[in-house]
Amino acid sequence: MAKPHPVLLDVDTGGDDALALLLAMASPTLDVRGITCVAGNCALEQVVTNTLTLLDAIEAPPVPVAAGMDRPVLEPGLPAPPLHGGDGMGDLGLGAPRRSRVDDHAVEFLRRTLSDAEEPMTMICLAPLSNIAMLLRMYPSVGEKIERLYVMGGTYAAPGNTTPAAEFNVRYDPEAASIVLNSGLPVTLYPLDPFMQVRFTKEEAEAMTEAKGAGARIAGGIALHYCRFFGMDFSLIGDAGTVATVIDPEGATTVSRPVHVDLSTGTSRGATVFDRRILTDGFVREGEWTEVDVVTRVDASRYRKLMASALGADEALDD
Ligand code: BDR
Ligand code: CA
Repeated sequence: MAKPHPVLLDVDTGGDDALALLLAMASPTLDVRGITCVAGNCALEQVVTNTLTLLDAIEAPPVPVAAGMDRPVLEPGLPAPPLHGGDGMGDLGLGAPRRSRVDDHAVEFLRRTLSDAEEPMTMICLAPLSNIAMLLRMYPSVGEKIERLYVMGGTYAAPGNTTPAAEFNVRYDPEAASIVLNSGLPVTLYPLDPFMQVRFTKEEAEAMTEAKGAGARIAGGIALHYCRFFGMDFSLIGDAGTVATVIDPEGATTVSRPVHVDLSTGTSRGATVFDRRILTDGFVREGEWTEVDVVTRVDASRYRKLMASALGADEALDD
């Protein structure tokens, strides 16, 4: 088997970040070298607690967890969205964490880990980009050690979820998103379009809660929380789809497009605008634009199977 790929995850755990962490930790293809936390789905301290608690619950090896930015680079931050539950991770009652975070701030942890890395690493960013923007502004030379950034954020053709125009991670910290997307580093953006595609049914989530592995049981519990919150008979795997794209890029359809983050203070603040025109010569394009790879859709059946299989819960799926 090929050597596992070294990755760093930046999260705002977050029920669907938890699903992403469960997949990343279970995948033999990935070697998780660190997890950095940022405010977003809930306050920073709760994000750290949720992340540590989750790692305890699956008896994960001692992967370093670092706390980072407790707010966006400019703004005070948005209120926590209610969909993730009172504790931000589906209110599963997992208890207090037994393991501890590292002492370093996330930005310092990332600088050190990337500087010391023998080979460039992949960064999987599933949250507002405040930590990553600060890292790239303070220590731009670490860019040499970043192979690619996989970023869950924005919308391609889909509507926004936090405002009619903007997706949560980008709207929470638009300046940070602009810094990261315009950094010139290779970026694969996983926007709301594929994010909305990959699902488990309520029955499948129920079956997962009966699985042998702790990871599958937790994933089932989180999925059931979302089913209950939205009153739906399915739940999205959300951020975990971004991790699936890293593990299995063949399952994703990607196009390269220039993107701009709207930093205005109006209704479209935080929107990701893509230049999809055939003819641009002689026409106007204002502001900062950088070409990124955008996942426009994924093979949903392939990714839900990948997720269930990594958690040892293939038998929970209906297909
Ligand atoms: C993104 O926002 C958060 O609510 C989710 O964790 C995901 O990263 C989706 O807009
Ligand atoms: Ca997230």
